[in-house]
Amino acid sequence: MLRKILITGSSGQLGKSLISELGSDFELLPTDSHPLPITVSGLPIIEMDITNFDQVKQIVTTFAPDIIINSAAYTNVDGSEIDKNAARNVNVEGLENLIKTSSTNAYFVQISTDYVFDGENGPYDENAPTFPISYYGKTKLEAENVMRGSRRRNLILRPNVLYSSSIDDTASFFSWVFTQLSDKQEINVVTDQTSNPTWIPKFAETIHHCVANDVEGIYHYGSENYLSRFDFAIQIAEVFGLDISLIKPITTNELNQTAHRPKHSGMNPGKIQKELCISIYSTEFCLTEIKKIMEQK
Ligand SMILES: NC(=O)c1ccc[n+]([C@@H]2O[C@H](COP(=O)([O-])OP(=O)(O)OC[C@H]3O[C@@H](n4cnc5c(N)ncnc54)[C@H](OP(=O)(O)O)[C@@H]3O)[C@@H](O)[C@H]2O)c1
Repeated sequence: MLRKILITGSSGQLGKSLISELGSDFELLPTDSHPLPITVSGLPIIEMDITNFDQVKQIVTTFAPDIIINSAAYTNVDGSEIDKNAARNVNVEGLENLIKTSSTNAYFVQISTDYVFDGENGPYDENAPTFPISYYGKTKLEAENVMRGSRRRNLILRPNVLYSSSIDDTASFFSWVFTQLSDKQEINVVTDQTSNPTWIPKFAETIHHCVANDVEGIYHYGSENYLSRFDFAIQIAEVFGLDISLIKPITTNELNQTAHRPKHSGMNPGKIQKELCISIYSTEFCLTEIKKIMEQK
């Protein structure tokens, strides 16, 4: 009998990829507060708002998942400063609802973020002290602590700068750069925020490996090389033959965003490579794979 996985946030960038990655080996129940009106890999996404205790209880009790992957989040970093309740309700209380309503035997995968760090001296390994500088980061760290303090076996994964292969995912940095440059629009991109961005299909494969092997603990995940958002945009333009001169350098201060961003971030993937034999890929490799996928369509 296949083990049962309930996925939250299934309409999101990562959630959709998890459905296609895990569908053949597990019985899936994809859920989201705003389900897509289409099936993903042949599966419908059902409505479940993780902040709605009664709805969560009904669905979790009925499906009785062996595994819960919590990919749902209030991901609007600036919005989290303005509507703190909304951010905390989803990112912390949503997880608490999943914990309270699930069996004590359930195994959780909690998707966290590099925003639990201040971004002063990344890349970070798993032992680095956390110190979030945005409210979004604070809620994600509080969720990690809730997860660790629960009586549930759990895995906390911290990726950074997620991007999918789809230009329809408006939250994806890749999609924004590709679309703007394809439309011959100039873009301002920061030169002083460093990360090692995460191509979602490879991250979904990593989650598959972890779930199949009941991996517990905290692991960081990211690509092989650390680069600024500006250099990431340049690589996108180079791989896709787009006009590099449309990419204008800007500093984080000039952007005047509501929330502070970690500047020198990045997730050191050494532990996950060494302990779990997970392969890490360069950004150029991932972008070239996206190009191949697009050309096949
Ligand atoms: N994006 C990044 O660069 C990044 C980097 C590091 C870590 N992460 C983490 O990775 C995970 C996946 O991120 P993502 O990029 O896939 O985000 P995403 O595309 O914004 O997906 C999150 C999904 O959660 C849904 N959601 C929001 N509130 C909900 C609720 N109350 N109940 C159920 N579902 C709800 C969202 O629906 P709506 O869109 O309708 O609100 C959305 O479909 C998140 O935990 C995020 O914190 C993301």
